[in-house]
Amino acid sequence: MTETLQLVCPACRVPLRREQGSLSCPSCGLVAPIEDGVPVFVDSPEYWGEVGISRERAQEVNRRMATEDWRTVVGQHEAADVRQYFRFVSNMDRIGWHTLLSLPRTSRVLDIGAGLGTMSYALSRCYDQVVAVERVRERVDFMRLRFRQDRAENITLIRTDMDTLPFAEGSFDLIVLNGVLEWLPFSRKDLNPRDAQLHYLRLARRYLKPGGVLYVGIENRLSYAQLIGAPDPHVGMRFVGVVPRPLADVMSRRRTGDRYRPYLYSAAGYRKLFLEAGFTGTETFAAIPSYTDPRVLLSLDRPSREFEAHVWQSSNVLSRMVKSALTRLDLTKYFGYAYIMFAHNGAAAGTGDPSSGG
Ligand SMILES: C[S@@+](CC[C@H](N)C(=O)[O-])C[C@H]1O[C@@H](n2cnc3c(N)ncnc32)[C@H](O)[C@@H]1O
Ligand SMILES: [Zn+2]
Repeated sequence: MTETLQLVCPACRVPLRREQGSLSCPSCGLVAPIEDGVPVFVDSPEYWGEVGISRERAQEVNRRMATEDWRTVVGQHEAADVRQYFRFVSNMDRIGWHTLLSLPRTSRVLDIGAGLGTMSYALSRCYDQVVAVERVRERVDFMRLRFRQDRAENITLIRTDMDTLPFAEGSFDLIVLNGVLEWLPFSRKDLNPRDAQLHYLRLARRYLKPGGVLYVGIENRLSYAQLIGAPDPHVGMRFVGVVPRPLADVMSRRRTGDRYRPYLYSAAGYRKLFLEAGFTGTETFAAIPSYTDPRVLLSLDRPSREFEAHVWQSSNVLSRMVKSALTRLDLTKYFGYAYIMFAHNGAAAGTGDPSSGG
């Protein structure tokens, strides 16, 4: 059985004491209120929703979920904007990658920026203890109601962000950052975006046990779609993600007044980033069609011809010629839309050397 997780003060790391309606630090006096059973370490005013879901809409869905089955509320909602997310939220296949890791059932998992809890819930069916961390109140409320209805009693839900994690170092076997790494530079605007990502990756590594694994799901900077002009998936501007960063800053400043922050990388760029953050090895898989709906996972160690049927399809003659040339050069595999990656915190006992792979 996995040991109970002791929450600690995010500032001084001493165990928190449970009092009526709150957790408090005996050393610095920090108090985290417990709201509807959820400890709150960060009361962020920020809202963040899936595309098309306003804060008011999210609140309305949550109000109804207090008395109605969440599957009915979301799956049969009168607004198509809400209904379209039913598959996204209920999709258990989003954690298909976990079978590649062979972690024991007794593992403890941390899902950072858990969103609407799709992966936390799916992971809770595979591992004994899951901790879901999210800073947006509406998203935490959604998860709380859903986890309760689905009797996911092995999920601990906490409202906080990556800067205020109430855990002792070395607490987790697996940490999940799905669609989160690219957004982290917005939380450290004082840093260059890559330095902000490095900072948070180093932080995540500290919360992993020796031999633990960080999972990252994210888009590919060199995705074929973006190279030929599809809008950047995070800021909606064309080419901004693929041009050199200084030019991206100019383009972004002109449109938004702020520099370009949601940095993506090539497969080699991610690997370099993880190694620089202190991880000892990485494994990279193309997630097809995307990391949010990974129906096919192909290791980048495999030859490009195995990717041919899966990555971009086009009837355009030029595009087909480019693809065929890239396949002959064994390069097609580097132009898919998204990756899922594992970054290892040293080798786990008995699993061999995880440092291979692209
Ligand atoms: C694109 S959503 C991904 C949600 C979820 N992981 C999924 O895959 O469905 C990004 C999430 O990251 C969270 N996030 C952004 N910055 C964060 C930070 N500094 N600390 C913790 N979470 C953060 C947001 O609140 C949001 O829920
Ligand atoms: Zn303290």
